[in-house]
Amino acid sequence: MAHFPKPDEGSWTEHYPQLGTAPVDYEDSISPEFYELEREAIFAKTWLNVGRVEQIPRTGSYFTRELECAHTSVVVVRDRDGGVRAFHNICRHRGNKLVWNDFPREETSGTCRQFTCKYHGWRYDLDGALTFVQQEGEFFDLDKDDYGLVPVQTEVWEGFIFVNLDPDNTTSVRDYLGGLGAGIEGYPFGEMTQVYKYRAQVGSNWKLFIDAFAEFYHAPVLHAKQATDEESRKLQGYGFEALSYALDGPHGMVSSWGGMAPPKDLNMVKPIERVLRSGLFGPWDRPEIDGLDPLPEGLNPARSPAWGIDTYVLFPNFMLLVWAPGWYLTYHYWPTAHNSHIFEGSLYFVPPRNATERLRQELAAVTFKEYALQDGNTLEATQSMIESRAVTEFPLGDQEILLRHLHQTARRYVTDHDRNEIPVQISVGS
Ligand code: FES
Ligand SMILES: [Fe+2]
Repeated sequence: MAHFPKPDEGSWTEHYPQLGTAPVDYEDSISPEFYELEREAIFAKTWLNVGRVEQIPRTGSYFTRELECAHTSVVVVRDRDGGVRAFHNICRHRGNKLVWNDFPREETSGTCRQFTCKYHGWRYDLDGALTFVQQEGEFFDLDKDDYGLVPVQTEVWEGFIFVNLDPDNTTSVRDYLGGLGAGIEGYPFGEMTQVYKYRAQVGSNWKLFIDAFAEFYHAPVLHAKQATDEESRKLQGYGFEALSYALDGPHGMVSSWGGMAPPKDLNMVKPIERVLRSGLFGPWDRPEIDGLDPLPEGLNPARSPAWGIDTYVLFPNFMLLVWAPGWYLTYHYWPTAHNSHIFEGSLYFVPPRNATERLRQELAAVTFKEYALQDGNTLEATQSMIESRAVTEFPLGDQEILLRHLHQTARRYVTDHDRNEIPVQISVGS
């Protein structure tokens, strides 16, 4: 498991000397050239989480993912042996996108026995083998065995489906996720199948939204209106200090206090939260399932009684948030340009047993949306101004250690790749 520093070991940032403490250059978030290098060095090389196994419950269940950041689309499918496979979503005949419905750039899902190309009707089975060619006799020495779908490396970790677009990759997802991943294995993710999803197009670099969710320094200020006035004044007076931070390889995590599920004082929360016993931290009553007690070692690593939520920032674009009351949240950030991305936020609960439990989940989901809109609101404002380059370096505090690490990691992937494969074209900062 990863090493979790203790608060008495000094500043979180200085615990990792490679991070330095200097102001951080944000050129990586505004340069179109840097984004092109990120596509090659990061999105075409690392493990990307594209979904959960519950999305493909049966043989023939499939979904597509548009991975513009890696110049492709993939189709993920449950094969006849119950395995999970992924293929580039391209027909071997003349390159038509194989699986799509009304609009070729929209993602889709469903269940089928085989994939049939809309253009000339070539067919592929669930293992990707080409099984049928229309007017096969017209072709020249065509051996169908040579024209299967192009496979993409796929692995499942704790029910999360990952793909890696680098055919030469030799690292397993488990090894890639390292000690931080190992620390949360065993959490009952598979029991939490009631899903509420949000998706938004955001006019900022993908890393800026991770920045907004990887620190809570902003919470007492930006989200002040979410608490009662008195509570909000108190929160701003205290500021925010996390229970724990840890870094391991390209990944990081922050463990935070909670205290709102249930709140110590009911006057801290709004009337609807009191009535429903739910709010941002989720339904106050934990679901009755195995696996929440004791928690895997990587959750609430400080073993604090005040623990509320752990946020795992899994490089490059996947965040996993586990909440004390027994549910979890995922964020994905899919870049579409240097200054835009698609954000997805998904909340996962144990299925409700009655209408009250359902309403509690709905309240958590809409409360989350309100917070996320407040977070999202700052992003275009930030993007537009850092693009001015009137200021190029920004001081990051100790509670912003994960941001310092994220931007350094992105720069490192790009410079390492640059050194190995591409003639130096631009300066990417230090
Ligand atoms: S492009 Fe798919 S069958 Fe022709
Ligand atoms: Fe926030």
